[in-house]
Amino acid sequence: MCGIVGYVGHSSGRVNVGHGALDVVLEGLRRLEYRGYDSAGVAVVADGTISSRKKSGKLSNLLAELEEKPLPDSVTGIGHTRWATHGGPTDQNAHPHLSDGGKLALIHNGIIENFAELKLELLEKGTVFASETDTEVAAALLGDIFRNQLNGDASNGGLTKAMQLACQRLEGAFTLLAVHADQPDVVVAARRNSPLVVGLGEGENFLGSDVSGFIDYTRRAVELGQDQIVTITADTVEITDFFGAPAQGKEYHVDWDPASAEKGGYPSFMEKEIHDQPDAVANTLLGRSDLDGKLTLDEMRIDPEHLKKINKIIVLACGTSAYSGQVAKYAIEHWCRIATEVELSHEFRYRDPIVDENTLIVSISQSGETMDTLMAVRYAKEQGAKTLSICNTNGSTIPRESDAVLYTHAGPEIAVASTKAFLAQITAAYLLGLYLAQLRGNKFQGEIKDILADLGKVPAKIQQVLDHVDEIKDLARSMAGAKSVLFLGRHVGFPVAMEGALKLKELAYIHAEGFAAGELKHGPIALIEEGQPVFVVVPSPRGRNSLHAKVVSNIQEVRARGAKTIVIAEEGDEAVKAYAEHVFYIPETPTLLAPLLAAVPLQIFALELATAKGYDVDQPRNLAKSVTVE
Ligand code: AGP
Repeated sequence: MCGIVGYVGHSSGRVNVGHGALDVVLEGLRRLEYRGYDSAGVAVVADGTISSRKKSGKLSNLLAELEEKPLPDSVTGIGHTRWATHGGPTDQNAHPHLSDGGKLALIHNGIIENFAELKLELLEKGTVFASETDTEVAAALLGDIFRNQLNGDASNGGLTKAMQLACQRLEGAFTLLAVHADQPDVVVAARRNSPLVVGLGEGENFLGSDVSGFIDYTRRAVELGQDQIVTITADTVEITDFFGAPAQGKEYHVDWDPASAEKGGYPSFMEKEIHDQPDAVANTLLGRSDLDGKLTLDEMRIDPEHLKKINKIIVLACGTSAYSGQVAKYAIEHWCRIATEVELSHEFRYRDPIVDENTLIVSISQSGETMDTLMAVRYAKEQGAKTLSICNTNGSTIPRESDAVLYTHAGPEIAVASTKAFLAQITAAYLLGLYLAQLRGNKFQGEIKDILADLGKVPAKIQQVLDHVDEIKDLARSMAGAKSVLFLGRHVGFPVAMEGALKLKELAYIHAEGFAAGELKHGPIALIEEGQPVFVVVPSPRGRNSLHAKVVSNIQEVRARGAKTIVIAEEGDEAVKAYAEHVFYIPETPTLLAPLLAAVPLQIFALELATAKGYDVDQPRNLAKSVTVE
């Protein structure tokens, strides 16, 4: 989730006929900064050379650098704001990355899955790398192909040909933009599983990771398809596939205003991020297992022999992140047979917990700055435990102070109410569980491969749920006057019910409470009265049928007392219909993976009910995105 901009305009001699490349690129980066703010950088082509500047931190740091060390005027340029995945948010790891003796500059959004093997190949050719990034490997590969395979022939579209050959070698998700000193009036770009749009101007053309990158200059856009390469000059846009065959993009007019363009056309960052969830899960899975289902977790810096001796896992987290931990507990215990406790960080260190060198602490935090969780991790380290951070923010404090880290690749989560990070955290925790099961021999490789295959199908299933949200939105609007909503779930559905209640509390400011469905008869059922809305997350009727039957009887219990039952159930589950006012179906999926789907209707419900009440869903009252006080 990085911000990417490219530009080529006209010049007559030294005078820019259109806009200056740097002005356009910086304006585009300003609008795209929400996509990543770990670092920013630009490169322009002028006087037969590439000039670039890059700085860690926010765009303002780059602007200060440019004040001090200005770039030459140019009509060709690229720019990047980074959301770090491979390599921390440092100046060195910032984009652009240079190659071919500094004559080529490349920027990238995504994850190059096979960067390690390509890096080895290039090291053997004598390439020296300055950063830890997969992007620099792509830059070096492109430069090597341009220089050594194409003999640096820039005459007839050398950079485009080099990009085609390079993309044939790359695996994973990527949007790449490149410029070369020997082709001063060209930007070449490529995309696979990562966004890229072309902006069509008069005597100038643009590239952006989304239309916000150029919306101030043109509203004519061309959407590129999968595995396509585009070469722009001031007057031409040429599209091919990765093998040079001509291809077409889809032209359209951008109707959004700039502000909504930054939200992908959605009314709020929260709604955009809910719809980002298929990518958040897919990108978190990307590059972490091979075709045989063998898992390799980058930055897992704990000795495997130590992990084999672990006899307890304690998950430390707060809020939504704690609920993702509670979901993961069921899977980790089932797959690894390691006792797994989930502790609220702010409670953990005051209860004199039993922690030793055979305890693995797994902290879960979107921001990586939650003080309660940071202090709990520090306490656990003092007790001799190894610590692993599941985090969405590269280089933040908690992963920096942990022995190992497993980053979620959900991209920046701007809305205070966590959605895509929640699903990405569950996904990362599943990868950790499968990694431990693989390491400790609890699961055969084939079993792990099957579970990974099921996980790989989840993004498309989330998209199916997202394609059918109108009905739940209608229900939410009709319930805008609700004073209290209850949520029931069992097994992995219980933390999903808790998360659904939290979303409603923090967005619509109404009482909401999640319960284990089996707990009702031990007290909470006294709350049920005529018309009381009760959501019920129902497990699949396949597999362990007893759970399903028990939850259906829980629905009957509350309905018999007048509850308005709203059921989340698996497609084909007819048994729930008789006892539900509303049923929202989710695609069939293995029980342990169902939370990745069941949470989505509850997110949409809370968002829509809060919107119907006129509340700011991105910045709810009294809340902060990162709680950095205890
Ligand atoms: C969830 O919607 C809230 N924003 C809040 O509960 C959040 O999950 C909690 O504060 C933990 O934040 P973290 O994941 O950044 O540590």
